[in-house]
Amino acid sequence: MSMSKPEDILNRIYDQALPEPADLEQALSWDKPQELERLFNFADTVRKEYCGDGIIPRGIIEFSNFCDKECSYCGLNKNNRKLGRYRMKAEEVLKSAGHLFSCGIRTVVLQSGEDPGSDVSWLAEMIKQIKSQFALSITLCVGERPFQDYRRWKDAGADRYLLKIETSDKELYRQMHPGMSFEQRIGCLDALRESGYQVGSGNIVGLPGQSRESLARDILFFKQNNFDMIGIGPFIAHQETRLAGQPKGQALLTLKVLALARIATRNAHLPATTALGSLGEDYRQEGLKCGANVLMPNFTPLPYRKLYEIYPDKKCVNEPVGACNFCMEQMAKQINRFIDYTKGDSLKFKGVTLNV
Ligand code: 5AD
Ligand code: FES
Repeated sequence: MSMSKPEDILNRIYDQALPEPADLEQALSWDKPQELERLFNFADTVRKEYCGDGIIPRGIIEFSNFCDKECSYCGLNKNNRKLGRYRMKAEEVLKSAGHLFSCGIRTVVLQSGEDPGSDVSWLAEMIKQIKSQFALSITLCVGERPFQDYRRWKDAGADRYLLKIETSDKELYRQMHPGMSFEQRIGCLDALRESGYQVGSGNIVGLPGQSRESLARDILFFKQNNFDMIGIGPFIAHQETRLAGQPKGQALLTLKVLALARIATRNAHLPATTALGSLGEDYRQEGLKCGANVLMPNFTPLPYRKLYEIYPDKKCVNEPVGACNFCMEQMAKQINRFIDYTKGDSLKFKGVTLNV
């Protein structure tokens, strides 16, 4: 199999109900310009066929940076005493939602740390308020919760939920998430699906100790679970974490994972993540050219935005609110694409079911 031509490998990854880990691993090892060009062009063709040329914007509001967890990579981890913590008021969240709505965006992502003080009723009320005032789809990204909370928020009107697996490698997962359980995370993903959400997941590329095989298995995990959206971003070390000083995930490796996820999953929504824009250079446009079809502009009010420091030098931290919209338009235009101002529901409902 290792004698296969890039074209054959890519065709197999595209065609097979469950691609071979060895094929994915091989493709992840490519670094010759011709191989990379074949990979990225193939992914771009699949993106065009299944998702079209529209780039769907999802406006993000990071409404609280309190967190109860100790993820080894994340600057919001509870042991970071240097970080000023905030929790936005309901009126502030509503105002931000109104703002992104007035920019034409039709999905709001409500994200926070795993804030023990953010109670289930508060968020349920928030969801109802947003839904009654604006024609917005609501995506929640607030971590692991009791399953009844997921149902409560779904009943309140939430449409989608993002819960990244971060790594599908159990041993690496354990190292990265002290006090957490891989099985419980899978349980949450299943419960979200059963509660009727469109479910997003994703991983971090370049975690210390992560192998190529492990990344290949992440891609298989995405395909097997038929996720509606998959966020793929590079690891960026934060100084107030256990992983301080570790090298960043490489942009190129992240782009390869993104491209292969596009080829394997065909029609999942794949964002060009903010982390991909935060490596010193902005690689989001590259991401959009090799599989991505979503952007996530930041609508957190400025004073809070710099406190949502998951990793350092996060893109857009000093941009005035709304600047991101202009920036997205520019980015799309430069690559002959357009911003698709619709809700951007899952494409998995449209008959192309790849579940195996
Ligand atoms: N580098 C890259 N991505 C990170 N995330 C958290 N910390 C880091 C980091 N240091 C990502 C996780 C999480 C998302 C909100 O941010 O994937 O799910
Ligand atoms: Fe935020 Fe460009 S997307 S400034």
